[in-house]
Amino acid sequence: MKAIQVGLLGIGTVGSGTYKVLTRNQEEIRRRAGRAIEITMVADLDVERARSIVGDGIKVVADGREVIANPDIDIVVELIGGYGVAKALVLEAIAAGKHVVTANKALLAVHGNEIFAAAREKGVMVAFEAAVAGGIPIIKALREGLTANRIEWIAGIINGTTNFILSEMRDKGLDFDVVLKEAQRLGYAEADPTFDIEGIDAAHKATVMSAIAFGIPMQFDKAHVEGIVGLQAADIRHAESLGYRIKLLGITRRRADANGIELRVHPTLVPAKRLIANVEGAMNAVVVQADAVGTTLYYGKGAGAEPTASAVVADLVDITRLHTADPDHRVPHLAFRADSLSDTPI
Ligand code: HSE
Repeated sequence: MKAIQVGLLGIGTVGSGTYKVLTRNQEEIRRRAGRAIEITMVADLDVERARSIVGDGIKVVADGREVIANPDIDIVVELIGGYGVAKALVLEAIAAGKHVVTANKALLAVHGNEIFAAAREKGVMVAFEAAVAGGIPIIKALREGLTANRIEWIAGIINGTTNFILSEMRDKGLDFDVVLKEAQRLGYAEADPTFDIEGIDAAHKATVMSAIAFGIPMQFDKAHVEGIVGLQAADIRHAESLGYRIKLLGITRRRADANGIELRVHPTLVPAKRLIANVEGAMNAVVVQADAVGTTLYYGKGAGAEPTASAVVADLVDITRLHTADPDHRVPHLAFRADSLSDTPI
């Protein structure tokens, strides 16, 4: 059977990781997907660098629209990030009848309702496992593994940068500003760390989890968002003396009065003996409380080239299987569907 052809928009860290994982594990992936999955086109503004990553066999262009316009491309993978160009290209890809894989949590949290409506209309799939907690398959866990359950709440360390900073503050007894500078020097924090340290990145991810878990629209604008800026080493010491660790958690839960959903990100006192309190460094972890299964915990790398690529490629395999089994019907199996509780207030 003909290979599924993939076009990558953006070949930075995650794009390179995706190319490597697909190439290295191509035989296993072909067996699992039922047919080969090949990147045949890449768009990146830095054409020379892109070419040095993927070699000669793959067409490299500067303009993502060329990838979308190619009738041979079945799936477009958006790894550009942000809301501007990425949003325009994702909507364009959907309009052209391409399935889309994206790692872009900001785009989904802020414009996801529009994107998923367009995908439903067009009958294409939009998959986004890599958007939340990188390599941890939390979207699949919520949507598939736990699908028999009524989910009560989710609480997660879903931003590795801030967890690294909090761990360093605790280990070394240093204040936030000092550790942030060190984290930037070591490459754990971006030059502009605003989205991470102000809790915005975690709120994007919590918004996506909330929508999947509770079947509600993306409601990032209603989230309560508080980051870790201004925390002192003394705060962490006081928490320790009372038997707690401070963790930046993304939390979403059914309200106690069953009327609505909570969605919030803030530094949280977690009893030190809890597993999630002991998640250190740049790692991620998500706890899900659900009625049938009880408590489950998911732990792993929330960022990085290959961990994130692991999630991107898993989505490629899912879409390949579904598309191959059902090429004409083209139900948006993997699209987020706000089909229940859609009036639920946050
Ligand atoms: N800045 C994010 C983090 C990257 O620190 O978790 C992964 O989304």
